[in-house]
Order: sequence, then structure tokens, then C-alpha cells
Amino acid sequence: MTAAAFGTSDFIVVANRLPVDVEKAPDGTLNWKESPGGLVTALKPILSARNGAWVGWPGAPDVGGEPIEGEDMLLVPVKLSAQEVEEHYEGFSNGSLWPLYHDVIVKPEYHREWWNTYVEVNRRFAEETAKVAAEGATVWVQDYQLQLVPKMLRMLRPDVKIGFFLHIPFPPVELFMQMPWRREIIEGILGADLVGFHLPGGAQNFLYLASKLAGYPTSKNSIGVRSKFGVVTVGFRSVRVGAFPISIESAELAATAKLPETKQRARALRKELGNPEKILLGVDRLDYTKGIDVRLRAIGELYAEGRLDPERHVFVQLATPSRERVESYKVMRDDIERQVGRINGDFGRVGRPVVSYVHRPVPRRELLAFFAAADVMLVTPLRDGMNLVAKEYIACRNDSTGALVLSEFTGAAAELRQAYQCNPHDLEGVKNAIDEAVHQEPEEGKRRVRTMRRQVLQYDVDRWARSFLQTLAGTVDETRG
Ligand code: ADP
Ligand code: G6P
Repeated sequence: MTAAAFGTSDFIVVANRLPVDVEKAPDGTLNWKESPGGLVTALKPILSARNGAWVGWPGAPDVGGEPIEGEDMLLVPVKLSAQEVEEHYEGFSNGSLWPLYHDVIVKPEYHREWWNTYVEVNRRFAEETAKVAAEGATVWVQDYQLQLVPKMLRMLRPDVKIGFFLHIPFPPVELFMQMPWRREIIEGILGADLVGFHLPGGAQNFLYLASKLAGYPTSKNSIGVRSKFGVVTVGFRSVRVGAFPISIESAELAATAKLPETKQRARALRKELGNPEKILLGVDRLDYTKGIDVRLRAIGELYAEGRLDPERHVFVQLATPSRERVESYKVMRDDIERQVGRINGDFGRVGRPVVSYVHRPVPRRELLAFFAAADVMLVTPLRDGMNLVAKEYIACRNDSTGALVLSEFTGAAAELRQAYQCNPHDLEGVKNAIDEAVHQEPEEGKRRVRTMRRQVLQYDVDRWARSFLQTLAGTVDETRG
């Protein structure tokens, strides 16, 4: 390859979505809307300082083309047809991989045409990346939608350094073995120089499969958090495997939650809800992994048993619409909305529901006001790679009041040990955790939240990105956590 074939970007993030979403106006013109999110904010400074580019899908079919020079980075939109969106995004990514990696809460479907399109779309991402990468660039590939990109990119551009991070759980070996294209996926990821997971358990599962399915020699040590990396020997290359739990922009969230406007909005929200004694809150994408149904069932029973009082305790569920064309998401939405209706029918009064349910994305500032207003945060996923909402809530509790009910099956549970942890499959256990959190002694609550705040403020998203990238660059001290 001659120098002319190289691009100019030294640092490239490759993710299924661009950091901006495109909206098509009725007259066909395109408007770009900044999509904030922790990942974008964390990576933006690195991207602008390092001549960076972001390769991703603009979120709508048939949009794409030439790279766009943004303020902080080069945006490289990957164009997908409506059929590719259906088969790569809705099909293989969210109908096969998402449920398989989340403990088959919903039965994964495996279709050969979905797989073929997944391969095709991954190839397009790899090609677009190869065009913009400068010689010796660092490329960081994100998440389950793009697991084949590391290998494809390495074949096109052996000169670049490649990292891969999986934002969702990596499943137990027995479940992963269902995947008809299991070896191809493991080989695809192994194109990277460094493979990152949230938890050591996921990293360990991957290491085992690299040996069992692909036959590569692997290290035998146990993997630590940001330390004690595993190694897979792929021919003459060493692929490192590690655990890097993601986090949030903790300090900025804490500062925004402290602003007088946020506090005032939090007070107004409380008033709008009828000045209850305790506000319980759930904030999620409307996804079957999040256990929204679990918490509604628990709350319904707690009202029925008189352990929650409709006059004193209200529940707010904010649910962003998500993947609305996928069948399992439609079914779940109907189920949840029926449950909300039933609880309000049984325990609400006219003009004073006990459950307030919003099926729209909430602006960031408003969301922080909800976190500041909530006395008890309910995070009850059946399985979740990390769950940033739990960390966001803790970051917003500047006075260390409040309580977090947290499922053991989230990545966050490994770090937020002082939460009221529960097993979401054990309804009585969930009810008891909610009951304890609602009725906790203030001093006990403060002790718990204070400890969790220290963790969340210390290990923020910047630290996550730095620890991954320094390990990728080979400049990390492996003996330190
Ligand atoms: P996931 O990545 O599976 O959606 P996370 O909890 O890790 O789950 O991250 C979700 C992100 O989306 C968080 O930053 C959260 O604040 C935001 N979010 C979730 N639900 C809403 C909502 N209803 N309105 C606005 N933002 C939301
Ligand atoms: C999770 C996944 C991300 C995904 C996000 C939103 O956080 O790990 O890769 O982008 O959900 O889902 P969506 O399907 O809207 O991109």
C-alpha cells in the first residue's frame, strides 16, 4: 500500500451509531442533532486533541456519503439501506445477539440472511475506517453490532492498532455455544490488539472460547479489574483481554445537579407529584432486559400489602422508546402499559396516579432534576452490562441522601456494593429491598450513598477511556488497579 492510500485521522472511534443523529425534514433536507451520551462526551476531547474521526451509522436508512468535518472531529457516516437496517440492526444485532448476550430473556432468532447482512455491514464499516485511518492510527471499535470489524480491518490495514470494547455482557460459554456463527465471531473480535469487557467474568468467558472454539493458546491467570490482563496468542500476535468497567462524567453531573435551577426544578417536580413523602424513580430505555415489569409487579404488591401507601409514596417511570420495530419490544411495551394501568386503577385517585409513566426521552437537565428529586432509585435489570443510570443517580446525590435498589445482575453491582441489592427473579426479595430502601434510617442511607459516591466520583468515564487506551498503547502499569 502506498502512502497515498492512507487517510489522515490518527484516532478513530467506530460505533454502530454516530455521535449525532440525522433527522429528515418533510422537504427532504437533513438536520443533524447532537446526541450527547457518556461515550461521546468522554471521547470528544481525545478525538479533538488527536485529529480524530468517528465512523458510524447516522440512525436513518439511506443517509451517508462523504465525511463531514465537524467542530471537534471528522464524522464518517456509513450509509445503510432500509433492508440492511432491518437485517443488521433490527435483525442480527437486536434479534440474535442482544437477547443471546442478555441470558436469553427473550428467545434469540438465528437467520442466515441476517448473518449475511451482518457480515456485509461489518465489512462496510471496516472499509470506511480503512479509508480515513492515518498510517499507524489507533482505532477503537465499539460493541456487539461490529464484532467482525477488528479482523476485517486488520486484513485491510495491518499497520493500525485496534481496540475492541463490548458494552453489553459477554454471555456464559454454554449460551454463547448456541450461536451458529460462534467461531467467526470469536475470530472477528480477535482481530483486535486489546479486547475489553466490563467485568472480569466476561473477559474470562471470552478467553475460554478463544481456546475452545478457535484453538488458540491462552494465558491461565485470572483476570483483574484494569489489571492482570489475559493473553491469546494468535499466530505471531498477542491479543490482550481485560476488564474495564465503564462509567460516567461524574463530576459534571454532580455540578449540574447542584445548580440552583436544577434544585428548583426538582422541588417543582415534587410539587407536581403532590408533595409525596417519598418519590420512587425508574429511568430506562424501554427494553425487556431492564426489569421494568419486575419493579411494577413488586410495587403493585407492596401497595396491596400496605407496605407502600398510595397517599405517601409515588413511582415515576421514565422510559425512552427503543427499537420499536422489533417484535419483542412491542410485546413488552403493551405488557408494561397494562401493568401501569392496573396499578393506577387499583390504587390511584382521579388526578393523582400512583405511577406516572412517560414514554418519551427526557431532556438531560430535566433528567438530572428527577435524579435530584428521587428518594429511591429502582434499577432492577434481569441482566445489564453496566447500567449507567445507577451511577448517574449516585453522582447527582450531592447531600448523600437517597437510596439505590440495584439488581445483582448489573455490572454496576460489582462496584456499588452499598446499594440495596436484589435478585430480580426473586419477587419477595425485590419487594423487601424496596421496602428497606423506602423506610431506611437517614443516617444509614447517608453512609451507604457516601461510600458509593466516592467510588463513582473516583472512577469516572475519563478514567475508563484512559485505562483502556493506555493499555492498548502498551503504556499502562499492569500491576496497578
Ligand atoms: P443502556 O445503555 O442499555 O440504554 P444505561 O443505563 O447504561 O443503559 O445507559 C442509558 C443512558 O440513557 C443513560 O445515560 C441514561 O441517563 C439515558 N436514559 C435512559 N433512559 C432515559 C430517559 N427516559 N430519558 C432520557 N435519558 C435516558
Ligand atoms: C446499549 C448498547 C449500545 C446502543 C444503545 C442504544 O447501550 O450497548 O450499543 O447504541 O444501547 O441502543 P440503539 O439500538 O438505540 O443504538
